[in-house]
Amino acid sequence: MRLDRERALDHARDLVAAAWEEFDHARDIEPPISAELLRTLDLDLPEDGIDVVAALDEAAEALDQSLAQARPRYLAYIGSSGLEIGALADLLAHSYDPNLALHAGAATLIEAQALRWTAEFVGYPLAGGSFTSGGTVSNVTALAAARERTFPGSRRTGMPSGATVYCSADAHYSVTRAVELLGIGSDNVRDVPIDSDRRMRPDALADLVDADIAAGRTPMAIVGTAGTTLTGAIDPLSDIADICGATGIWMHVDGAYGLPAAAVIPERFRGLERADSVTVDAHKWMFVPKACGVVMVRDESTLAAAFGHETSYIPGTRNAVDVTLEYSRPLRALKLWLAFRVHGAAKFRETIQRNIDFAEALYGMASARGWEVGPTPDLSIVLMRKPGLDNAELVTRLQADGRVYISHAVVDGETWLRPCFTNPRTTAEDVRVLMDVADDVAVE
Ligand SMILES: Cc1ncc(COP(=O)(O)O)c(C=O)c1O
Repeated sequence: MRLDRERALDHARDLVAAAWEEFDHARDIEPPISAELLRTLDLDLPEDGIDVVAALDEAAEALDQSLAQARPRYLAYIGSSGLEIGALADLLAHSYDPNLALHAGAATLIEAQALRWTAEFVGYPLAGGSFTSGGTVSNVTALAAARERTFPGSRRTGMPSGATVYCSADAHYSVTRAVELLGIGSDNVRDVPIDSDRRMRPDALADLVDADIAAGRTPMAIVGTAGTTLTGAIDPLSDIADICGATGIWMHVDGAYGLPAAAVIPERFRGLERADSVTVDAHKWMFVPKACGVVMVRDESTLAAAFGHETSYIPGTRNAVDVTLEYSRPLRALKLWLAFRVHGAAKFRETIQRNIDFAEALYGMASARGWEVGPTPDLSIVLMRKPGLDNAELVTRLQADGRVYISHAVVDGETWLRPCFTNPRTTAEDVRVLMDVADDVAVE
């Protein structure tokens, strides 16, 4: 399986350079998938290979006809941005392909250092953690640690009844998924009521916890979301930390999307430093390509208690597999490590702040132009809707129009347009264009 390296690398270099150049500008439409590409994508398993340059061209063509979150006007969901240095890091990391399940020499130190940098960036007193495949696995990992601390030995004996987990009604579904996978049961998740800014209500949380304890149940974890997926609301972490401190309940912060903003507006994240565990996705608002999740804890022994084990083919000392959910793990940390090394923390803060400013600017523009707007953005998500119109259809028509790409959110039964700014390539001009295109399509 030898590759024609020189030609392959030269050509790959040209393709990547062309893609990056393209991402500097928005394109006017999202092209449909061509008939020729559809034919290629319908081919049977090739018995013999084709020339690498031709095959790379096919791949690049397919990617060009895909929805790329790297484009500056991709403002849907919570995008990652394919940060250039991160893409190069992936190429390097995958070329060496170390396995971070075990001690992998300097690669293990890179992961540890990138974890420390991440913790320092967001202001969390890290004692342990790991890079993961994303927020979902980070949340499962953290809640597995919470389960074992609350019910020692339960990883072997199974769960007693009455375990209860608390999160806001707007928490990400991965919390429920984690609870299901860990044998706690999603019926035992309390959807804590939220206030008019869609933040968890600490008084309601305290009442629920008190009532459950009085009824003989065992609260296992409280999950505060630091930037909900729906609106970007930040739960009152300090109040949650007070309740956890008073009761001994595990505090987890799901900051998969929003936590990087703690580096620029730390006052809104006060209480984070008291969390037992924290999730943040570098592939969301730290711009690097997917997948680059991070889970951090204040006491590493909690991860070891949940995941430590012995296997006959792995040496007895503690390995990454003794503190993580996954076995084979790529060197995901390298993309964040290189991104910090090349751009520095200051550039990250500046870019995150700019995204926050875009949300504020769009919020102001939309309300000035007769759009109904949702809660004032805590972070970089804006909710806007046109009164009197079918806003779900409006989103569909905007996506079909192709000049900007946004997604929708259904909030209390109403559909809203939900642009989200997490891309360093997005400019103030893109924000204005989004507003103009939304106006155009609404008038049509
Ligand atoms: C708050 C929050 N938590 C968890 C997740 C899940 O992260 P991932 O998609 O990386 O598994 C998301 C995804 O958007 C999220 O917004």
